Amino acid sequence: MVVDCDTDPGRQSLLHELPQDQRSGLEIVHLDLRDRDAVAALIHGRNFDYVFHLAGYSVIEKSTAFPYDSLMTNAIGGLNVFDAVRRSDTPPRRVVITSTDKVYGEMDGSHYLEDSPLRGIGIYDAGKLTADVMARSHFHTFGTPMSVLRLCNVFGPHDYNVGYRLFPKSLSKIFNPVAPEPPVLYYESMDHWRDYVFVEDVIDALITMACHEQSLGEVFNMSSVVHLSTPSVIKEIIDTSVRILSEVDPYRAELVEKNGMQVTTYGQGALAIQRQRLDHTKIAQRLGFRTSVTFEQGLERTITHHTERLLRNGH
Ligand SMILES: NC(=O)c1ccc[n+]([C@@H]2O[C@H](COP(=O)([O-])OP(=O)(O)OC[C@H]3O[C@@H](n4cnc5c(N)ncnc54)[C@H](O)[C@@H]3O)[C@@H](O)[C@H]2O)c1
Repeated sequence: MVVDCDTDPGRQSLLHELPQDQRSGLEIVHLDLRDRDAVAALIHGRNFDYVFHLAGYSVIEKSTAFPYDSLMTNAIGGLNVFDAVRRSDTPPRRVVITSTDKVYGEMDGSHYLEDSPLRGIGIYDAGKLTADVMARSHFHTFGTPMSVLRLCNVFGPHDYNVGYRLFPKSLSKIFNPVAPEPPVLYYESMDHWRDYVFVEDVIDALITMACHEQSLGEVFNMSSVVHLSTPSVIKEIIDTSVRILSEVDPYRAELVEKNGMQVTTYGQGALAIQRQRLDHTKIAQRLGFRTSVTFEQGLERTITHHTERLLRNGH
């Protein structure tokens, strides 16, 4: 079962791009996590084995634009899930939630450890941090079977947060159906460094945590496959796009190469934390978790997906 507050079939999402055979086995429930009674009714009415809580405001800029809604969703929406599980007569074996490296705020040393101070101060950080702490409070106070995964930057084929995130935003420019445009590099993010991981590895980590006794009540940093500066990521996206496109659409490949990237100023104050890097020793040592998709493989699969969409749509 998938629960989401935006199940409109017209919306671009993985949910609506699944092949029919996979979609037909999936129950899609339209529900807003902010509705405490509806969340409780859903959780109390079913015997879920596992709950994976991912829904929410997932983009910093959107959270900043709508602080009240963002907090109500990320903090209270999360609490509604944990509270319903706590009060359930037939609780799931495990609830795994996706937190974020943003909960740590500015970095002191070279990596964040799971027990580093949580100093996130942005609006997005505040909601995610609340849910992160509340999940663990529920385990320690009530024994609710919680686990927390703190993610780094995730990339993959079906991310349509094109207005905000580096990958979908850059790819929407390169694969603009009318004509390719240069991806944008903000001058202010020139020195930003981030961890990246392919989406399939995140799914594997979530399932590993759900099934592992040693993750009960614990928080884990997600493994990354690469730690790169923002300009390097954009360059990798352009280079791989040019290579893949040159096989099927040499004209577009040439334009993409010629366009390069556009450097511009963000112009709206501080953009973000400069460097973020997760230490992932704990998830490797305690759960034996390893990523299986390299950055190059993930990039190739993501860009192939966009290339095929473009060709399918006749451009
Ligand atoms: N993608 C990343 O790089 C990344 C990094 C760190 C943490 N995370 C966290 O992982 C989770 C999943 O991220 P994603 O990239 O799949 O996000 P996404 O934006 O693609 O998906 C989030 C979904 O939540 C739904 N939603 C929003 N408000 C809701 C509400 N009130 N009730 C029910 N559904 C609601 C949205 O409709 C959307 O489909 C989020 O919690 C995010 O904060 C993601």
